[in-house]
Amino acid sequence: MKRAVYPGSFDPVTYGHLDIIRRASEIFDSLIVSVLNNKEKSPLFSVEERVNILMEATKDIPNVKIDSFSGLLIDYAAENDLHIAVRGLRAITDFEYELQIAQTNRKLSNGKLDTMFLTTSLEYAYLSSSSVKEIASFGGDISQCVPDFVGKLIYEKYKIRK
Ligand code: PNS
Repeated sequence: MKRAVYPGSFDPVTYGHLDIIRRASEIFDSLIVSVLNNKEKSPLFSVEERVNILMEATKDIPNVKIDSFSGLLIDYAAENDLHIAVRGLRAITDFEYELQIAQTNRKLSNGKLDTMFLTTSLEYAYLSSSSVKEIASFGGDISQCVPDFVGKLIYEKYKIRK
């Protein structure tokens, strides 16, 4: 059985992430989407909120499970017997960052954790959680970026009535 982990901040999940999740779920028998609990960042949504949002957004994909992790991805992967990490690539600017992380993970795990990249579908290539939050914080339209229920939750955080 081919399993993979899709790690990320998902603060919050966007249509770009959901595109990668859907496509990866068709490649692997089981996909674990795991939210990084990064104590140094100050996220808009707590880990619990991000997990719940992801659960709702992926509820129609039976082979997707949602989890969270702290610390190093290679440790989480080893504990859960996961050997492939999936990441999405939007543009060349992502590539340098992603290449470095992928190579570090492969080296540190002695080849036990490899990374597979999916190129983001063109219609979502411009999307990032940060830009979605910035647009929403000024009351802008994010309906093309995130599912409606996620949009409502983001506006609530910024106390914006829509
Ligand atoms: O959605 P993001 O913030 O781009 O995801 C980045 C993530 C979570 C994949 C990456 O920061 C990560 O795996 N962090 C866990 C800590 C770790 O393993 N660092 C070593 C890689 S240099």
